[in-house]
Parts: sequence; structure tokens; C-alpha cells
Amino acid sequence: MAGQIPLDWKRGFTLDFALYGGYSKGAISTKRSLSQMKGMFADAAAYERALQAGDPLVYEFYELGAPETSNDLAFGSSIVYPGKVGNEYYMTKGHFHTILETAEVYYTLSGEGFMLLENPEGDNSLQLLSPGNAVYVPPRYAHRTINTGTAPLVTFFVFRGDAGHNYGAIETKGYRKLVIEEPDGKFQTVDNPKWGN
Ligand code: NI
Repeated sequence: MAGQIPLDWKRGFTLDFALYGGYSKGAISTKRSLSQMKGMFADAAAYERALQAGDPLVYEFYELGAPETSNDLAFGSSIVYPGKVGNEYYMTKGHFHTILETAEVYYTLSGEGFMLLENPEGDNSLQLLSPGNAVYVPPRYAHRTINTGTAPLVTFFVFRGDAGHNYGAIETKGYRKLVIEEPDGKFQTVDNPKWGN
């Protein structure tokens, strides 16, 4: 999992965190295009129409291959591109941590959007992602990044090295809530008509 830049997880390191360029040299990139987001958006017909027009990149994230231990911290960056499927904004799939009782911090570097939080019992909230804001994702909460702006939404994240990602529950049931754009251009949170189906 080591990148091209030697990262000394035992003795420490300094990283040039240039997100779009040099940073990617030492990082492991994961890209999700629209075709890889099947079933994630509520409006299936709009999703099919959007795919016929192409297969744009919806989001990507960069990781550094941190040791997967409870003592280390994994960190990296996430970039969600601007766009919509129907009236639903581009977003990440979202995930729980495999070790559910582990938290995470996101710091917004550029762009505008929200972090949708939801725990297994259904408690949820929307946290603002705006440059200079830090969002605390508490233990047990699934988290999804949503770009409601017109520029890429770039965040820095850090979480416990062994926390892991659990996408399964989100991919099968979705979230209880959606963030959509109203005709007047304002965003709104609504119940997900597909939840649990
Ligand atoms: Ni996470």
C-alpha cells in the first residue's frame, strides 16, 4: 500500500498536501464515476438519462496507506464534483466504519456542501461543509458528503487506522434522508422514498 513518497509511519513525516497535483503522487486514489453509483440516487430514470449523456466522475478520494492499527491515524482527502442526478446533488456513497464505534473529523478546504450523518437507529443530521469548518462525525454514524455548490467540494479527513469502511448497509438500504435542490435553487432535506426497499 506504500505510495511513491516514502511515508515514515514509525518516525513521522511531513507531506506536501497539494490536493490535485503532487499529493496524488504518494496517495492511493479511488474514483467513483456515475456508472459506479447505481442505486445510490433516488430518481432511477434521471440516473439512466444522465448515464446516456456520459459517465462523469462523481467523486474521488486519496488515502495514504496508513497502518491499520488502533494506534495510527488514517488521513487523506475527498473531492466531490458538482452536479446533480435529477434534483439530487452529487454525493459520496457514504459509509459506516467497520468498527462502528469509531469517529472521524472532516475539515473543508474548498467548496460548499453538507455532511449527512445517520446512525443505525435513524437519528440523523446535516452538518455544513464550508471552507474553514471542521465537522465531527461521532462514533456509530454513517457519513456521506454532498456537494450543493458549483465547484469541487474538497475535504481533509482523519480517522482511526483500523476503523475500516462498511458500505454494505448504505448500498442495500440507502439513507433515510436525501438532499435535493428545489426549483428555486435552494437545497432541502427530504425523506428518501426508496429507503429500506
Ligand atoms: Ni469514514
